[in-house]
Formats: sequence, C-alpha cells, structure tokens
Amino acid sequence: MSPRSLLAIASIATLSGSALGSPAVAARHYTTTALHTPLTTICTGGDDSSSVSTAPTSEPHETQPSSKDYPTTCLPSLGTTLISTVTVTANATCASLSLPIPSTVTITATVTADKNCTAPTSPPALQCDKYGYLIQHADLIRVDLETGSIKNIAQKIGDGSDINGMGYNPLDNYLYARQGGKNMLVRIASDGTLTEVMKMPTNVGEYCGDIDDDGYYWYSTGGADWQQMDLRPGSPTYGKLLGSGKFAAGGYRALADWVFLPSRGRYLYGFSRATGSGRGTDLVRFGMDTHRFETVRNYPTLSGGFGAAYGMDDGRNATLFASDNSSGFIWKIELAADGTTGQPIKSANGPKTSSNDGARCVRNIL
Ligand SMILES: *[C@@H]1O[C@H](CO)[C@@H](O)[C@H](O)[C@H]1NC(C)=O
Ligand SMILES: *[C@@H]1O[C@H](CO)[C@@H](O)[C@H](O)[C@H]1NC(C)=O
Ligand SMILES: *[C@@H]1O[C@H](CO)[C@@H](O)[C@H](O)[C@H]1NC(C)=O
Ligand SMILES: *[C@@H]1O[C@H](CO)[C@@H](O)[C@H](O)[C@H]1NC(C)=O
Repeated sequence: MSPRSLLAIASIATLSGSALGSPAVAARHYTTTALHTPLTTICTGGDDSSSVSTAPTSEPHETQPSSKDYPTTCLPSLGTTLISTVTVTANATCASLSLPIPSTVTITATVTADKNCTAPTSPPALQCDKYGYLIQHADLIRVDLETGSIKNIAQKIGDGSDINGMGYNPLDNYLYARQGGKNMLVRIASDGTLTEVMKMPTNVGEYCGDIDDDGYYWYSTGGADWQQMDLRPGSPTYGKLLGSGKFAAGGYRALADWVFLPSRGRYLYGFSRATGSGRGTDLVRFGMDTHRFETVRNYPTLSGGFGAAYGMDDGRNATLFASDNSSGFIWKIELAADGTTGQPIKSANGPKTSSNDGARCVRNIL
C-alpha cells in the first residue's frame, strides 16, 4: 500500500504581470522533508492524484540553482517562496497513505517571477551605413559627411560623463569607446543605448581610437601612448591589452583621433598640428607593427583641431574625413594606393564640436 513513487508538486504562484512581455517561467527543484505523518489522504485508486492537506513544514531549499535557465536578476530569493499545496501522486489505492518519518519529498516547483524577466535582448547594432558617428561629450550624433546634416540620436548616454576614443567594431557593428566617469569600456548601439562592458585595463584618458578589421581596439591619449585591446567577440583574451607603449608626455602635437584604412597598410591615420608657425596640419600615422609615428604629409593651408576623423575605404578609394572642431568644416583627403595623398577638399559644413570623437564603418562606400 505504501507508494513506490511519490511525486509531490508544489505550485507556487507569485505572479505579477510584466509590461515587457511574458514573465519568465522556469522549473525549479526543491527538496523538503515531510514531517507530518500520517498524511491524511483520500486516495480513490488507480493513478489518481491525491491532495494532501498538510504541507511539509520544513522550508524547501533549492537543490538545483537554475540560473542557467533563468536570468540571474530574476531569480526569486530562496526562502520567500511559499508552498500552498502539495499534491502526492500515488500509483495505488490507498486508504491511508503513510510516509516514513521523516521522508524526503522532491518537489518540482514552477515559479513565476514577480520581476520583469524578459530575457535581455541585445540593443540594435549599427548597419555599416554611410554616416559618420560623432560623440560629443556624451551625446551621440549621426553626421552625413557629404552634406553636413546631423541627427541627434541620444543625449547624455551612460552616466553622462565624457566619452572619447570611439571606434566602430566591424566584427559586431557596435561602437566602442571609453566613458570617463567610471573609466569604463562602453558599447554603444545604433539607438544610443550604452552598455558598460568592463573597466578599462588602463586608466588613460584616451581621446584617439579606432578598431581595425580584425577587431583590435587601438586607443591613445593624443599620441602620448598607445594601447591595443582585443575586442574580437568570443576571444579568450577579449578586453585584454595585447600591447601598449608610451611616448613623450603631452602627446603627438594635438593628435585627436585615429582612423584605420584597411587597404592602406597597417597604420592608424590622424591629424596633428605641424611644428613651426604657419605650417598648418600634418597628416600623420602610427605603425601598428612598428609602434612609431611618422608624418605622411604637411598641409600648410589646413588648420584647426581635428577631434573627429572618419575613414572610407573600398580598396580603390581610401578617403579620410576630418572634422575641424571650431569651424565644423569636414575635410576629405584621398590616400591613393601608391601612397600619394590628395589635397584637402571641403566636403561639408558639419557641427562645431569640442570634446568629441568620430567613428565610422570604413567599408561602407559613400
Ligand atoms: C501503476 O499501476 C498500473 C496499473 O496497476 C501499472 O500498470 C503501472 O505499472 C503502475 N506504475 C507504477 C509506476 O508503478
Ligand atoms: C516591469 O517593467 C515595467 C516597465 O518598465 C515597470 O513599469 C514595472 O514597474 C516593472 N515591474 C517590476 C516588478 O519590476
Ligand atoms: C578638438 O577635440 C579634441 C577631442 O576632444 C580635443 O582633444 C582637442 O583639443 C579639440 N581641439 C580644439 C581646437 O578644440
Ligand atoms: C573617393 O571617394 C570620395 C568620397 O566619396 C569622393 O569624394 C571621391 O571623388 C572619390 N574619388 C574617386 C577617385 O573616385
């Protein structure tokens, strides 16, 4: 007469609606000890289920933490769940069902969280579109490099502190940068949603940055240092520095952004103030293998601070776009495959900026 298999099911309902979609439901497994005996049962035979009027009195404890099938943030805290009824299924006719004292009953509980447990979805990636993305303090702005027209995407993103050193990761189509307030590596989605990825491995106030074709993030404090970080999704060294170095303090003559052009060698290009008055601006580059700076060409008529630079490269046409902070003018300079460089041509009147950085999907051809 005693049950061979005993299945107790506790149904725990602490449901409240979620505005974000269906609340997550996950099977939880508990054990508890039945202390009451005999259990009063009304078994009628066969495979009937019987209601037990007395619930086990000991607090159920979780035997299988199920965070793998349940978002961690939504796990109900243990000890707060209440077993309202216990149903014992006995495969027998039973007038009086007695359980050994104490007996361990496995309870499979289905809990519905009273929190918003919608599985986290990734914020929308960018689309490798033709626009330049400009970060100004903590505002994300989309810039049409040909017309200069802008669209304000989101303001004061993250914790609102200044963001700089931004690059476009071609491997996952998100923007990455450093947000200063918490010295945080941040990922920025196309709608401006900011996700804190991790603390930066360094605490340099970088304001030059780009991500190369292989997913390595290169950043620098104006040319006073260089860092190469792994931002290849899934890489075992993700977020780690693979190389770094320092130059003379003060940076490389007001270098304020880096641009990688995939077909123009392993260099990060940028614009620096030329030495000597009236000498304008130097197009410079940092060798990703040599770890040295060199001047590519002097542009005496080009002057300004180029805090935001963007690249475009289809193998045949590699063009740099540089936005002058104070005037907002966007200049473009072509880098030919044979190493020669064109004259700066004004592309558009863009926004005037101060604390800023630019990034773009370099493979998109305008
Ligand atoms: C339950 O009872 C039926 C009918 O007597 C039998 O066929 C079946 O094997 C039993 N199941 C278990 C789990 O004992
Ligand atoms: C669930 O999310 C909605 C919308 O964001 C919010 O109004 C509600 O308070 C949340 N409920 C809980 C329990 O967090
Ligand atoms: C332009 O912005 C960059 C990046 O924030 C900054 O380093 C540079 O000093 C600014 N230059 C001018 C002239 O405002
Ligand atoms: C290269 O691309 C730029 C930007 O679209 C454009 O202004 C320029 O005319 C192109 N050059 C050639 C040689 O096609």
